[in-house]
Amino acid sequence: MHIVTVVGARPQFVKAAVLTRRLLTGDFPTIRDTIVHTGQHYDHTMSGSFFTDLGMPAPAVNLSVGSGAHGAQTGAIMAGLEAELPNLRPDLILVYGDTNSTLAAALVAAKAGIALAHVEAGLRSFRRAMPEEINRVVTDRLSDYLFCPSEKAAVQLRQEGRGSGIHVCGDVMYDSFLYYRNHPNARAATIKHGVQSRQFALVTLHRAENTDNPARLALLFDALADVARQMPVLLPLHPRTRQAIARLGISPADAISILEPLPYAETIGLAGEAAVVATDSGGLQKEAFFGATPCVTLRDETEWGETVEAGWNRLMPQGDGAAIAGSILQAAQNRSDAPPPQLFGNGDAAGEILMQLQRYQ
Ligand code: UD1
Repeated sequence: MHIVTVVGARPQFVKAAVLTRRLLTGDFPTIRDTIVHTGQHYDHTMSGSFFTDLGMPAPAVNLSVGSGAHGAQTGAIMAGLEAELPNLRPDLILVYGDTNSTLAAALVAAKAGIALAHVEAGLRSFRRAMPEEINRVVTDRLSDYLFCPSEKAAVQLRQEGRGSGIHVCGDVMYDSFLYYRNHPNARAATIKHGVQSRQFALVTLHRAENTDNPARLALLFDALADVARQMPVLLPLHPRTRQAIARLGISPADAISILEPLPYAETIGLAGEAAVVATDSGGLQKEAFFGATPCVTLRDETEWGETVEAGWNRLMPQGDGAAIAGSILQAAQNRSDAPPPQLFGNGDAAGEILMQLQRYQ
């Protein structure tokens, strides 16, 4: 079976590396994979450095679509991928998550009559204004194989009337976390950034709902300034957020350490050592959870509700910057000594996914 994996955004490189690595064990000799990079992310810190750090071979194809409005970006990926199909001749197209690259590849697969597998199926924020929610719902609808990271995701798909194709495999991000948590760059991350274990906040912000809403972004930077008065705040900045604060004339408080986007192993190291993580990233919410670090999600809802129900994650409160800062500082104090429950599989989600695909080929 020839799987063509389509990736384009930073977290997808991490997820694809997990499956590629699992294939290298030789346990699935009838499966081979080819990576297609859409080029949605293209800065070195957002793309190239990930392939190098994750030990991934360069993608077989790079569609180099770059940034653009949703329709333009999605359409360019569709046209580029469709044109490559005669060369690639996939038996199955595999996509991850909820980006425009995910949606575009799903549409191409469905229209070309190629089997489609979606890893991270069944997640919902129930907020249609979020571009990722549209991407998830459509991709799930078109997919033949729905690989769910948790039971909750599978329940959601059944509620939506899906009868077949659902497999609860665990979360490839958990596999990845276990693989990288003892990496030398993960272990050295606190020293490199001059912070002490459990005495700093790790913060990321990149979602459109935060970056494209001036009042909300200003409020969040007020909150971070308050937190930075109590403990060091590390804020690796996505280029979208960097552009937004420049455009809006927001000057982050000096006490906030603004960093370039971080390499993956460093992120894992910092997420596991922070007193608290505050983020609007889905991936980082779970990296905090895996590392037994309390998290405040800087959004009004999350697709990872099980981490909230388990008491390790909370949504940011409505209110002013002081209320949000208060929630972040309180989360840092309320760290539980009990380890988080195992909600996302046994650490071999990739093996489960490949086993299912092998079975049906
Ligand atoms: C995308 C995903 C989001 C995911 C995130 C991971 C969609 C709709 N959103 O958001 O779900 O959490 O990736 O990081 O697909 N930019 C650069 N250099 C880059 C990439 C982006 O400067 O290498 C800037 C550009 O101004 C671009 C903006 O960031 O317009 C947004 O990039 P885009 O790929 O559209 O979405 P993300 O915000 O990265």
